[in-house]
Amino acid sequence: MFSLEEEINRRCTFAIISHPDAGKTTLTEKLLLYGGAIQTAGAVKGKAANRHAVSDWMELEKQRGISITSSVMQFEYNGRCINILDTPGHQDFSEDTYRTLMAADSAVMVIDAAKGIEPQTRKLFKVCAMRNIPIFTFINKLDREARDPFDLIDELEKEFGIGTYPMNWPIGCGVNFKGVYDRENKRILSFGDLHRGKERLSAVECDINDREKLVELIGEYSANPLIEQVELLDGACFDFDIEKVRCGKLSPVFFGSALTNFGVEYFLEHFLAMTSTPLPRKSGDRMIDPASEPFSAFVFKIQANMNKAHRDRIAFMRICSGKFERSQEYLHVQGKKQLRLSQPQQMMAEERSVIDEAYAGDIIGVFDPGIFSIGDTVCAKGMDVCYEGIPTFAPEHFAMVEQTDSMKRKQFEKGMNQIAQEGAIQIFFEPGSGLERVVVGVVGVLQFEVLEYRLKNEYGVDVRRSALPYELVRRVPEDVDPKMLRLTSDTRWVQDFRGKNLLLFTGSWSIDWAISHNEGLSLYEFNENDSELEK
Ligand code: G4P
Repeated sequence: MFSLEEEINRRCTFAIISHPDAGKTTLTEKLLLYGGAIQTAGAVKGKAANRHAVSDWMELEKQRGISITSSVMQFEYNGRCINILDTPGHQDFSEDTYRTLMAADSAVMVIDAAKGIEPQTRKLFKVCAMRNIPIFTFINKLDREARDPFDLIDELEKEFGIGTYPMNWPIGCGVNFKGVYDRENKRILSFGDLHRGKERLSAVECDINDREKLVELIGEYSANPLIEQVELLDGACFDFDIEKVRCGKLSPVFFGSALTNFGVEYFLEHFLAMTSTPLPRKSGDRMIDPASEPFSAFVFKIQANMNKAHRDRIAFMRICSGKFERSQEYLHVQGKKQLRLSQPQQMMAEERSVIDEAYAGDIIGVFDPGIFSIGDTVCAKGMDVCYEGIPTFAPEHFAMVEQTDSMKRKQFEKGMNQIAQEGAIQIFFEPGSGLERVVVGVVGVLQFEVLEYRLKNEYGVDVRRSALPYELVRRVPEDVDPKMLRLTSDTRWVQDFRGKNLLLFTGSWSIDWAISHNEGLSLYEFNENDSELEK
């Protein structure tokens, strides 16, 4: 039995990010295999065998070969309890990634060694940097032809403006991949046929200065470059500083091959040794300590209709402090109501199981009868806590969406509202026009496709979508009547669900025009408190 503090301190909650196809799913799967959480590879992706458990619109993900949803997986490894938060690989869903990162204490970035940094890694990294969380890099697919490792780390440093610290170093790649050199222990982990599968790795102790043994182990062809590279590496100005790792300024880099399971266990062990236990979270001016305070959590994700068999809505919460108990009543801070969180569950790939207790660091999904919004706080009665909200990204693409069958009006409204409440889209209304057509704003255009697919498959509604030329949105001050404003003809006035006025602009030129032609007018960013998101 662990004490409350031990339970919390043995937890590790991290998000995994990558450009599609870099190997995020494969790495996750191998980590789960180590934890004994799954028995066979392929269980995470929801392949043919467990397709029944996969939600309808996950079909869309499969068709498109992308991962849209983010799921949560928990497993035990060497006495640690690990929560992995999977994130959508596609940049169009970077807002979802941002929310997921809010629930994580660190991030693991998977990079394809042949490709290096790819466009979506860039965007996702930027999202990580906003949170200043520790970033660990796993350079994958060394069993294939790869780019020069020095080039790869150089690229990481230059593009991302962070330091890197290679924990291990690859010995060759592709057909000449011989293994990795463990810098800390100065030993070789050799890659042989034995390691092409689930087998654990047997490390071979080898002093890099013992040339004879080194040659025997990896051959003359690989030994010489390795000695040179290690010298270069040790001589270069790479300093390891755990404090820099903790604030996201230095990324420990691991080389390996997730598919062949090479370097995964090494990564897991070193990562666990370096990553922090659940961190305190800010509530107003106070930091809420995970172990010394009662239960508190915040909602970072809401998702409806995850499973065909359960047409329900799940709110995902990150527990920030204390212990969650199923039988307890808690306070929903924003709703000012006491409630019992019904059907609390933890996710394992596509499986769900109902749980009785959970601890700070854990992610739980609770049934949401439509009361939660993203960013809401839930806590023990009598506790004075309200976590900082999760900022909304300003939409960058807009479309007019209207139902094609006027008999389906109710379903259309329900679908649009529910999907908007999940934070998957933003909806706006034209003053004076009916609800059968709505202006939809998204961060990435693929979100439109998900919207159409979900409206059809979950709500039985067909829609017509026409692209709108707007790119920027600004809020109008409460005391200004938009009807009285002088605006360019390509500017559109809309309202959000609270009736607040917004203007949609085709470019910054029209914003400047509006400001210079309406004396004293100031227009606000879509989300005023989150100006850092607009950069
Ligand atoms: P993602 O979640 O980041 O999108 O990537 P995923 O793990 O699905 O991997 C993408 C492809 O890369 C998969 O091949 C996977 O088997 C392969 N892969 C992942 N890690 C490694 C590695 O270390 N070495 C090699 N050689 N390949 C790797 P696929 O053929 O597209 O899919 P599948 O049919 O194997 O699922």
